[in-house]
Amino acid sequence: MLSEKTIEIVKATAPVLQEHGNTLTRHFYNRMFSHNPEVLPYFNRANQAAGKQQAALASAICAYAANIDNLGQLKEAVELIAQKHTSLQIKPEHYPIVGENLLASIREVLGSAATDEIIAAWGEAYGFLADILIGREAQIYRAAASVPGGWEGFRRFIVSKKEQESSVVTSFYLTPEDKGPLPSFKPGQYITIRVPTGDGLTTMRQYSLSAKPNSDWLRISVKREDGAGISAPPGYVSNLLHNSLTVGSVLDVAPPCGEFFLDRDLNDDRPLVLIAGGIGITPLMSMLQSALENSPQRQVTFIHGCQNEDVQAFKSTVENLKTQHANLIAHFRYLDPQKPLSSNGIGASKGFIDTSLLETMIGDRDADYYYCGPTPFLANMHRLLNARNVPHEQQHFEFFGPKEELAAFA
Ligand code: HEM
Repeated sequence: MLSEKTIEIVKATAPVLQEHGNTLTRHFYNRMFSHNPEVLPYFNRANQAAGKQQAALASAICAYAANIDNLGQLKEAVELIAQKHTSLQIKPEHYPIVGENLLASIREVLGSAATDEIIAAWGEAYGFLADILIGREAQIYRAAASVPGGWEGFRRFIVSKKEQESSVVTSFYLTPEDKGPLPSFKPGQYITIRVPTGDGLTTMRQYSLSAKPNSDWLRISVKREDGAGISAPPGYVSNLLHNSLTVGSVLDVAPPCGEFFLDRDLNDDRPLVLIAGGIGITPLMSMLQSALENSPQRQVTFIHGCQNEDVQAFKSTVENLKTQHANLIAHFRYLDPQKPLSSNGIGASKGFIDTSLLETMIGDRDADYYYCGPTPFLANMHRLLNARNVPHEQQHFEFFGPKEELAAFA
């Protein structure tokens, strides 16, 4: 347990750290990458460049400090971080590296305000949180390796099929090179792939599994990120996959992970609403297929908002599902449709997803909501669902990339 004194010091100094949060975490990452370059391959350089990872760590530290005497509040945050860490193969031996660089950064940024007593208290608090994460991560690694078809670390997979889903999205079907069985996973989870960066290093990315669990292959569906100038350079990994990966190519894959999944333990008498923004459709496709297969009585509403039909992935897949499942209601919402609006048995309209669309499709039904897409889309959904008084525990969403503060976008 942490001592009373440590708790008192951490709580008292948290506002100062919060004030310097982003400067501190930027300094920390620069310091760690120059002192310990061996951890570089674990980090997504694009998230670093956009400052998202720094912001995620800063807000995790602030949340931790604020709740240090009530860690139950951090349960969800700990689970998200532990799932992300295990997906990237972060191990106990990495924690001292982060701890040392973090404490040194607090000293360097706060100067004489960071007394020995303060540094000692934060050191103790960091060790406490590290032990919680290491413990949870050990459980996740054990579970992933011990399920039938499961594995530890990276396993080699062959691209057995490559399929274009839209002008910008391509699916890759992956089968184990060792021809062994595949594990089941929870619909909504992701895998991590590891690819070379050309400079002798490797980099990793997470991609949602875009089909329901099956015994033959894992499928990811990747949007080619073309980039939009200096602020958003082209996606290195997505372009590599689209341009260089062909049938027969081999990839390193880490086991399925993630805490955004369709929970079969939840009450499935309650209607299910799945709302996708753009490429956010990938985990929701897996959920949609699984829900329709496993809960034929459950009313399922599926809404896909995207730019237009050309970039829309899985349009015909959803249309086919609609013809097979009477319990599915679906709607496509286009920002800038390029063709006259028509769809096979599925509603289609122009605009953002808004209150009136939700009202028409869901009315006042009590439902479980799962949504995924770019951050402004998530912020909009969160605002709309809060305005409809959907309880927090019935709203499930996922960021592609480090978690951000939705309120900041409201
Ligand atoms: C108590 C210690 C730690 C805390 C509080 C922490 C916190 C976090 C948070 C909040 C995220 C973002 C999760 C998300 O929203 O997706 C994250 C991701 C990550 N963490 Fe940690 N972390 C800790 C230790 C470590 C260690 C020891 C390593 C190993 C070098 C590490 C490497 C990473 C990486 C590579 C990511 C993903 C970043 C990316 O997308 O590029 N973390 N961590």
